[in-house]
Amino acid sequence: MEVINPYLFRYKGYVFPTGFSQPEYIDSLQTFEIRDNDIFLVTYPKSGTIWTQQIITLLCEADPSNNIVYDNNWQTMPWLEGPLDFPDYSLRPSPRLFTSHLTPALMPPGLKDKRPKIVYVMRNPKDGVVSYFHFSHAMLKLETPKSFEDLIGEYLEGVVAGGSWFDHIREWYSKRDQYNILFLMYEDMIKDLRSEVLKISKFLGKNLDSSAIDHVVERATFKNMKKDPKANYEFLPQELLDLEQGHFLRKGTVGDWKNTFTVAQSERFDQVFQERMRGLPLQFTWDIHEHP
Ligand code: A3P
Repeated sequence: MEVINPYLFRYKGYVFPTGFSQPEYIDSLQTFEIRDNDIFLVTYPKSGTIWTQQIITLLCEADPSNNIVYDNNWQTMPWLEGPLDFPDYSLRPSPRLFTSHLTPALMPPGLKDKRPKIVYVMRNPKDGVVSYFHFSHAMLKLETPKSFEDLIGEYLEGVVAGGSWFDHIREWYSKRDQYNILFLMYEDMIKDLRSEVLKISKFLGKNLDSSAIDHVVERATFKNMKKDPKANYEFLPQELLDLEQGHFLRKGTVGDWKNTFTVAQSERFDQVFQERMRGLPLQFTWDIHEHP
């Protein structure tokens, strides 16, 4: 384990925020028992994690065979990598729901053997880094960057919580055949939430009628989620989240990076993006108006 600074440490090629995960626990995931009916949500941070959590949770709750309802989405769909204040997961009834920001190498091998369903959401990294910038002011366990310029450098080098965005996308995408995985884009969810909810519902094998889907879509809109105490993460303890400084549900748009990036920063970002994404057939949406 390499301590990067008081807020971050590197372990097995991944960068963790200090205080959430311990290396020993990460190692123990290699023997974590996966069930074939587990459901995983995997994202790089700030890509629409809690949004997709809300959708998956609601889709599962709408299924009459599911009768367990937890107090909030964090409890319903805890982060696999910790913190560890949840009861033994082996005691949880199926279907168990998990969230993770980890890369394939750190995940339980059972994800390949048992092939549970994995939903992976990605977001254009310019909006991602702006989201991270604001979030780092509110999330007290993250270092508040000295400037946006500084953060861009750290983000491009992968010295932020979650490690390198480029590695995350490449590792999951290039290993996709080994997993039972559905890739989604944050921007597609913004453009047509209902279609993406239907896609997730189908992938999860849910057979919900149109009004049940409408209900999920309605509860997953930015406006409604922001006031939903089970979903908006304002239930996090004050030592973690300073609501005076910011919120998980901040703006929820595509292209907000244009309000923050300078032209020079954007060009520098584009250059690294071109180099690091070479060979990956992924098309990101940088602005919603570019596809009228
Ligand atoms: P912004 O900071 O750009 O607003 P994560 O959950 O991975 O931390 O991602 C947080 C980002 O997802 C934030 O982006 C947040 O506003 C956005 N988000 C959360 N719920 C959303 C929703 N219902 N609709 C649109 N965006 C949402």
